[in-house]
Amino acid sequence: MCTVIIDTDPGVDDALALMMAMNSPDLVVEGITTVGGNATLSDTTDNALRLVEHLQGKQSVMPVAVGADRPLRGSFTHAYHVHGSGGLGVRLPAPTLRPYGMSAADFMCDRAAASAGPLTVIALGPLTNVAAALDTCPELVGALAEIVVMGGAFDVPGNVTPHAEFNIYEDPWAANAVFASGVPATVVGLDVTRQTSMHRRAGPRWFEGASRSAVLGNRILADRFRERDDFQEFYLHDPLAVAAAIDPDVLTCRPAQVTVVTDGEERGRTLATYGEGTARVAVEVDVERAVELVRSLISDNRA
Ligand code: BDR
Ligand code: CA
Repeated sequence: MCTVIIDTDPGVDDALALMMAMNSPDLVVEGITTVGGNATLSDTTDNALRLVEHLQGKQSVMPVAVGADRPLRGSFTHAYHVHGSGGLGVRLPAPTLRPYGMSAADFMCDRAAASAGPLTVIALGPLTNVAAALDTCPELVGALAEIVVMGGAFDVPGNVTPHAEFNIYEDPWAANAVFASGVPATVVGLDVTRQTSMHRRAGPRWFEGASRSAVLGNRILADRFRERDDFQEFYLHDPLAVAAAIDPDVLTCRPAQVTVVTDGEERGRTLATYGEGTARVAVEVDVERAVELVRSLISDNRA
């Protein structure tokens, strides 16, 4: 059993990752923190609240704490062209749930201090909130068991520039601060996430059953494939990070120290010096095991 905070910018693959985490018997989700990225902070927070209410009902007590609306420098670029209008394509009913009365960074610090056991942060968006939390309370370094980061492109091309993956590109300063902090980090980059996907031809029932998560997962993917007839597959970037928190054996990782290029043409490029360091960089994935974990967690949990 692993206690986690999910830092996220929903986002289609973030939504699938949240469904997995909330359905998993192996995770205790302490709360969700939102960050701008795929969409504006206002849209990502709204999407997180809508998702929680849709999946857990109006009586849900899941905290959704609001984080950063901009990176440490400049502004987020967003990816509505990938994730659809509103950042999710599908529009769920307006939520009655309201954001938690604490910022994302304060929420991380508060829960780490209060947690009886080890706490893991699963970071599925730009690392701005995590960097802010580490800056606000340095004791987080000793208090966190691990940060599982979806981000980076080590030996493969990026997806936003030839050098950079989106989450790292959006706030390379925050990423550097997190990787230099001393907190153990499992880094799940495009090297492995691009090997895991939901293919257009496998639809329209990618997820089985009548549960809210299965039905919504199918709706979200169908909407994306309908809107983007050039997409043949939708990568499971963020779901793979959640899968790794549940079942670390889905990945093979190498110890490394990770740094990020912050400026110029190579902005957002992740560099790994292998050997030792506080990071574990994912270099291989058991594709079948990972995709099956994603599929089963979203398919199960019948409403
Ligand atoms: C990452 O960027 C976002 O578009 C996805 O949600 C994922 O977190 C992949 O590069
Ligand atoms: Ca994301």
